Amino acid sequence: MRKEGYAIGMIGLGVMGRNLALNMAEHGFAVVGYDRDAFKTAALSREAGTLDARPAEDLKELIALLRRPRAVMLMVPAGAPVDGVLQELLPLLECGDLVIDGGNSHYTDTNLRARMLAEQEVDLLGMGISGGEQGARHGPSMMPGGPRQAWDRVRPLFEAIAARVDGDPCVTWIGEGAAGHYVKMVHNGIEYGLMELLAEAYALLRRELRLDDGQIHDTFERWSQGDLHSYLVEITVQIFSQVDEKTGRRLIDVILDEAKQKGTGKWASQDAMDLQLPIPTIDAAVAMRDLSVYRDERRMAEEIYGGELDAASRVALTHPKASTHHLERALYAAFLITYAQGFALLRKASLAYGYGLDLAVIACIWRGGCIIRAALLEDIRAAYRLQPDLPNLLLAPDIVPRITDRIIDFRLVVQLAVGAAIPIPALTASLGYLDGYRSGWLPANLIQAQRDFFGAHTYERLDTRGTFHTHWSAAEGVE
Ligand code: 6PG
Repeated sequence: MRKEGYAIGMIGLGVMGRNLALNMAEHGFAVVGYDRDAFKTAALSREAGTLDARPAEDLKELIALLRRPRAVMLMVPAGAPVDGVLQELLPLLECGDLVIDGGNSHYTDTNLRARMLAEQEVDLLGMGISGGEQGARHGPSMMPGGPRQAWDRVRPLFEAIAARVDGDPCVTWIGEGAAGHYVKMVHNGIEYGLMELLAEAYALLRRELRLDDGQIHDTFERWSQGDLHSYLVEITVQIFSQVDEKTGRRLIDVILDEAKQKGTGKWASQDAMDLQLPIPTIDAAVAMRDLSVYRDERRMAEEIYGGELDAASRVALTHPKASTHHLERALYAAFLITYAQGFALLRKASLAYGYGLDLAVIACIWRGGCIIRAALLEDIRAAYRLQPDLPNLLLAPDIVPRITDRIIDFRLVVQLAVGAAIPIPALTASLGYLDGYRSGWLPANLIQAQRDFFGAHTYERLDTRGTFHTHWSAAEGVE
């Protein structure tokens, strides 16, 4: 029994919880862990070796072993499991204790839980954690939100275990309340968008440029060493070199083409809709995951509409001859546009929910450890440091040429894919968002006229302030 007690308790010893506990112990913070699955608790003991990470038989023992005021971290699946653990835990906690929820909890749940815990004078930090198993073990990016003084108590521990870029830890206090879980939700929305863009690039490489897996591997490897240098491109390179032990084929070619989702990207789309902040690339990514599950219907539809178009039946508005170079440049522009949408959502949410987010700081802690880490986050960070209240990255002086230099490539790739009937909704949504955002005039006047025509919803005028309604003369005559 340690005389001064353990620094932190870890409840939930699955992949993330166990590796975070080992990371903490490796950095000199004594951890006591518990999982209702005794095998997972035993795994912690086994993997800890000489590290100061020990198991607890039950929650009571875990609490008893902690030094006061206590810090207890939850790494359990979002939703009811978190509430279940809190119900068991609350009677064991005392005034001044701290609970850290490191799962992908929905930010509205975190708001409710924080209020519940506060009634017992227990603080709650909602902490987004990104980086998967490797990140948890060797350095994640973390996004804690909640009472600042609660964060200050545990800051040394989390700064010690975080990923580091240029010596800076990829963790910082994000803001009050559920700000941390909100930022993680948007991180995951961007993650969905980037993953869908990479999937669409894969489809073009395979179906349009007719590259084989080896050539696709080499293309992603070349891209990984250029402007698209990023974690997701890096793992895509590795994915295309993985051989399936069962068949000897490349594993990618035997994986079922139905995508699953725990829902964090969808939540970002839902909240953006509520805030009326457009993030169409992320919306398209969620929709394509949804569509991928209708595999049987898709195969029926392919029988009806025919599969890939042969050269003769393609509709080429021009006669584009795209290359992987064009695709790389189009993908980079679409990546930037996806980050622009995500950061615009963060800015809108910060204003709407009072988070007081510092977008430069968020870009900074996303440079390492997290799934969406990428070289271009340095440029995004610089843009927000220069203009903290930038309405949209697409207006940043240093970002603009990165888009305009690649716009022809982008249009060429979209034309090519559309003419070849290759589905690229995230790429087209990105281009459509750019073209919509850069349009001084949009045909929304017709929508206003139609709304007033059938619903008398009124409209505003260009030349006069106020709202107007017209008795549209043809209304009666239309059947
Ligand atoms: C991360 C990831 C992680 C996410 C899984 C599953 O940042 O480490 O975003 O938190 O939960 O990747 O996400 P989906 O099942 O929603 O794809």
